[in-house]
Amino acid sequence: MAEHGDAQAALIPFLQYCQEQDGYVTQQAVSDAAALTGITDGEVESIVSFYSLLFQHPVGKHIIHACRTLSCMLGGADRLHEHIRRRLGVRNGETSADGEFTYQEVECLAACDKAPCLQHNLQFHYNVTPEEFDRLLETWRAQPAGAALPAE
Ligand code: FES
Repeated sequence: MAEHGDAQAALIPFLQYCQEQDGYVTQQAVSDAAALTGITDGEVESIVSFYSLLFQHPVGKHIIHACRTLSCMLGGADRLHEHIRRRLGVRNGETSADGEFTYQEVECLAACDKAPCLQHNLQFHYNVTPEEFDRLLETWRAQPAGAALPAE
């Protein structure tokens, strides 16, 4: 709170810190955040659920967000999504059996002119074809173990 000015401004960084420590925002972290900021657990949970990079359940170290909005769908996202789900053996919102990859279809990632678009952790990838996804997947699999989301 000293670094961010007040409790409200420190809320998101606090939740990010908790997620870095525990792998996701635990119920204890929600309660601690509520106590520190003077808002209810429910209000903290609504904030956590609003941000796509905060999680209330364990996730893989690789978070893949695939855009499912109009431009990307017109650019072939449905074929890409089907390919990703098959390669990872998951449905939308699930984590692969090895615990490494969490896949989530999301609304517009603000790169509509480079459809289809996806986000891996904090990095964007544009004009992604199934073949390009396979190449990216091998790169990600070769990365050393680390946190689900890069530290700032
Ligand atoms: S529609 Fe996919 S990035 Fe905007």
